[in-house]
Amino acid sequence: MTDPRPTSAFHAANADSSVTARLIAALDSQAANPGVRRLREWAHARLAASPGERALDVGCGTGSEARVLAAAVAPDGAALGVEPHPGLRAVAEQRATEAGSPVRFLAGDALALPLPDAELDVVWCERVLQHLTDPARAVTEMARVLRPGGRIALLDTDWATFVMHPAAPEVRPALATVTQATAATPDAGRRLAGWLAGAGLTVDTVGADVLLHDPRSVTWPIVQGLGSAAVARKLITEEQRDLLYADLTAAAAQGAFHLSVTMFAVVAHRPG
Ligand SMILES: C[S@@+](CC[C@H](N)C(=O)[O-])C[C@H]1O[C@@H](n2cnc3c(N)ncnc32)[C@H](O)[C@@H]1O
Repeated sequence: MTDPRPTSAFHAANADSSVTARLIAALDSQAANPGVRRLREWAHARLAASPGERALDVGCGTGSEARVLAAAVAPDGAALGVEPHPGLRAVAEQRATEAGSPVRFLAGDALALPLPDAELDVVWCERVLQHLTDPARAVTEMARVLRPGGRIALLDTDWATFVMHPAAPEVRPALATVTQATAATPDAGRRLAGWLAGAGLTVDTVGADVLLHDPRSVTWPIVQGLGSAAVARKLITEEQRDLLYADLTAAAAQGAFHLSVTMFAVVAHRPG
């Protein structure tokens, strides 16, 4: 069953082309971030998808990690990306074709994967669980499709670790509130190991890295999103928002802008 609540822009209900273009730009920018790249490499190395295996990326977005899995299981393995958002799925298909990747993509939902029990050797799920209202159920569903001995990597953000500087002390609580409201489950990062254990899986290793933005330029899409949300919820005034924007702009001119959030990765396996 599909989660009926459009919890964020990353919901299939928000498939309008301009929204989709923004999502793709955001995912591409995150994919280029050194912290995201390091954590992905760390998790792929420990997941160790191998030639001949069957791999799945749940909520694969533009398909970048599904293509990595496809390369790892080649030549005789199979990789599948499940993605409910039609615009993102179309981009994933197009990029896979352009790259000559054999990965396949399916419409589907993390809460009801279109696969039989014990079908897969490896599962990857990155920054999806934070967008679900029942992430534990999704992890149980991923455990269902994993064969005994199969491995899984979950990667997610913990929005309580979001830091933006400079921000006046009276504005910081408002920023924390609106940041946490951007995800259905904003503390997903710290809960990954618990969800895996709760689904009967054995946690093998836990890692973390930080998504750190360039100190020389304000990350306006994020900053404006938070500023507008804080004003709309009457948590700060328009004057406080404008002062925040001015402080951040001045800091960036000195290379002193700071925006960061911690991401966690957990690799586990299904007992054999
Ligand atoms: C932040 S994006 C991450 C995309 C990709 N995993 C990555 O790390 O680049 C969140 C993804 O979760 C997908 N998503 C949202 N709800 C989902 C659900 N119920 N089942 C599967 N995927 C879902 C979105 O469509 C989107 O592709």
